[in-house]
Amino acid sequence: MELKQQDGDFNKRLFGDDFKWGVATAAFQVEGSCDCDGKGESIWDVFSAKRGKIKNGDKPHMACDFYKRYKEDIDLIKQLNIPNFRFSISWTRILPQGTGEINQLGIDHYNQVIDYCISQGIEPWITLYHWDLPQALEVKGGWTNREVVNWFSEFVRVCAHSFGDRVKYWMVMNEPSVFTGAGYFFGIHAPGRAGLWNFLPAVHHAIMCMAAGGRELRKILPDVEIGTTFSCSYVEPKSDKPRDVAAASRVDTLLNRLYIEPTLGMGYPVDGLPVLKKMDKYIQPGDIESMEFDFDFIGVQLYTREIVDHSFFTPYIHANIVGAKHRNVQITEMGWEVYPPAIYEILKKFNQYKSIKKLLVTENGAAFPDVVTDGKVDDPRRKAYLQQYLQQVLKAKQEGLKVDGYFVWTLTDNFEWAEGYNPRFGLIHVDFETQKRIVKASGQWYANFIKD
Ligand code: FCB
Repeated sequence: MELKQQDGDFNKRLFGDDFKWGVATAAFQVEGSCDCDGKGESIWDVFSAKRGKIKNGDKPHMACDFYKRYKEDIDLIKQLNIPNFRFSISWTRILPQGTGEINQLGIDHYNQVIDYCISQGIEPWITLYHWDLPQALEVKGGWTNREVVNWFSEFVRVCAHSFGDRVKYWMVMNEPSVFTGAGYFFGIHAPGRAGLWNFLPAVHHAIMCMAAGGRELRKILPDVEIGTTFSCSYVEPKSDKPRDVAAASRVDTLLNRLYIEPTLGMGYPVDGLPVLKKMDKYIQPGDIESMEFDFDFIGVQLYTREIVDHSFFTPYIHANIVGAKHRNVQITEMGWEVYPPAIYEILKKFNQYKSIKKLLVTENGAAFPDVVTDGKVDDPRRKAYLQQYLQQVLKAKQEGLKVDGYFVWTLTDNFEWAEGYNPRFGLIHVDFETQKRIVKASGQWYANFIKD
């Protein structure tokens, strides 16, 4: 799909003055220094040390060395004219055992990061949980143990008291569907547990934690903006046969409705996915009410679309995702289809939830195999991806839909979870041997686009 408008006609002003432009990262993917300054072990430290869990045996110990190079990288954010920086707090740097003893060095570190952002005119946006649960809590059952609501609330309180005087934007969680689905159903992410009886309690407790975390923040910091983020994919049936349409609706419920609807006070979407009736086992009186929290904003994170057909053999969901590789469409290094209208469709879908106050795209971006030539990285496909997805965001905005911001995933190439270092999502190229950074052409494009 080629851009019809000239670059000059498509500009930042069309999105309005209040639109938030940003870039997002996550602690475990960039920091490295996994056992420095009193940090405790997280489930990702343990999982990634196991044989065969991470592609090519890649190790997270160094990642982009952001723990030590945060100033250099924040300088680059400034150089790219990006006013908002979303990053996450590693729970085990703050509370090495998950609860109890606080590690002051961890708090000092994030204070330095926050202060440096502010000194450079960059607004820090904190994600409290981006998947790195303390291992000490995992051995007690992790997300499947209802106690996690208390553990998590404690972590939120410590962060609110430590950083709340300067941080105005908070996101309680990153994509509960991915850490529960990949981590507790398929076992392909940390902690590597599988099956419905791990998945369902993990989902229930994650949703309870989101609301509990929101309430803790509001109590301690009544004036900040509190949000949370959801992974979304636009889902379409492979054909208009009723059973493909029904299968697509079940997948849509699982990917796009399961986590937001209880948060909005609508309860679990059992109508769209009958297996959710089994959740009753974990629901105690008062839970449905306590899963609700009136977030100031919701973040949607979207990369692709999924095509779905009926499958008799897939347990629980009886649906099959037809991989983009088999569909003769343009794909990224992750095997995800490049389909810009997906972002418009998801914004439209989330706009139907009238109680959402503000809606931001808190992640969007693409991995392509970049090459360094003469010290430069020319990445026209990433630039086109960002441009085309942004045009769809603008389309939503111009139709009067709510959309208040856009954050690119991600600043620097980094540790892409079980995929290791191969998928490069950054606006900035990283040589993982030397830690040398090179701003890619797409990064330069984004910088020019959002320049004041
Ligand atoms: C999202 C995650 C983020 C990154 C991107 C590619 O699901 O939130 O950490 O892995 O995908």
